Amino acid sequence: MPTLLLNASEVVTCEGPPRARRAPEMTDAGVRANAAVAMGDDGRILAVGPDRELRAQYPGSAEIDCARGVLTPGFVDSHTHAIFGRSRHAEQELRAAGVGYMEIAKRGGGIHSSVRDLRERSEDELVALAASRLARLAAHGSTTIEVKSGYGLSLESELRTLRVIRRLAAELPVRLVPTFLGAHEIPLEYREAPRTREDYIALLVEEMLPAVARESLARFCDIFCEPGVYSAAEARRILGAARGHGMALKLHADELEHAGAAELAAEIGATSADHLAAVSELGIKALAASGTVATLLPGTMLFLGRSKQAPARAMLDAGCAIALASDFNPGTSPTVNFPLILTLGVSQLRLSVAEAFVAATVNGAAALGLAHEIGQLAPGFSADVALFDVEDHREIPYWYGDHRCVATWVRGRKVLPAGQWKT
Ligand code: NIG
Ligand code: FE
Repeated sequence: MPTLLLNASEVVTCEGPPRARRAPEMTDAGVRANAAVAMGDDGRILAVGPDRELRAQYPGSAEIDCARGVLTPGFVDSHTHAIFGRSRHAEQELRAAGVGYMEIAKRGGGIHSSVRDLRERSEDELVALAASRLARLAAHGSTTIEVKSGYGLSLESELRTLRVIRRLAAELPVRLVPTFLGAHEIPLEYREAPRTREDYIALLVEEMLPAVARESLARFCDIFCEPGVYSAAEARRILGAARGHGMALKLHADELEHAGAAELAAEIGATSADHLAAVSELGIKALAASGTVATLLPGTMLFLGRSKQAPARAMLDAGCAIALASDFNPGTSPTVNFPLILTLGVSQLRLSVAEAFVAATVNGAAALGLAHEIGQLAPGFSADVALFDVEDHREIPYWYGDHRCVATWVRGRKVLPAGQWKT
């Protein structure tokens, strides 16, 4: 029996071609007033249209009253680090006192402290921690969530992290996309004789990537390509090996300082280049001329207290396809609130509301290679839907920091409140 979502004041459809959109295509989010959405038994959208038409077309359907709220495609959060142990709240005050993100890492904190923590936790513990965090992300309207490893940095603990993601993907009602980020840092034990960074890179290429591929644990391979972490030359080697194992590619590119990572991402055909606050003009040109999605993470720069955001308008003008994501992680972006990312997209990156919605849905889907399946409310697409308690879609980024999402559906099935998720 189909299900009709009726009595919505607006439906943001984002309907259009199933691929990354660029300006000027991004300026139309396909908003329809007083429309309804029909979801089929197969978990796909059947139709979007006036209530009366859909009722006539699908008699005997289950009906859900949207109470004049706004329906949108579920957000596609294409960049998170959701598998970690404890929070890192102490670092926030340290940064406020003038100790930079990289300096904290040099002192053995930052990513290293999450690594020490994660290595001591069991698979069950990590599943329980991540499930409650993913439930919070879903409660704000995210229905597809990319999840990276990267706090294990050893063969055993990276595999354990990816197995946690696989378990969560099978058991939770949201769609998860796994990414291997063994190249998130050089672990501390590879910085002193007898072990070297080259030994860790050899471990990544010769043991970790083959093991991840053997168990089909990751769709993507990512790397933190940044001065002081991995160089562009090292990224080229590691990502080349990942491609050889059938993985698609992502980069943490030019996040804090320029590293030529955007240029590399475009050259090697990465699916996305993420962050880009320190992208060069050449990097922008290279991305614009490529099929690589530029994924911007404005929550990160806000939380780090940095005034410089990615040059989104220049990127749009140059012809880049832009996606928005949360970068949810314990160090640089501990927010689960995707509508807040829309707010920052508008107020910090100067996107229009329509551009922000397309960036958060269709282009997020393209950043995961899933634009043919999710990201729009249009016939044939997965029925991944979010309902907001607002009358006008522009209020979703406007009421910043609020929690207006009142329901989500994934593959046409209502996502239950967190307490009712089973793992
Ligand atoms: O995307 N920069 C690298 N990775 C994360 C932060 C990870 C952390 O600090 O734990 C990011 O900002
Ligand atoms: Fe990240």
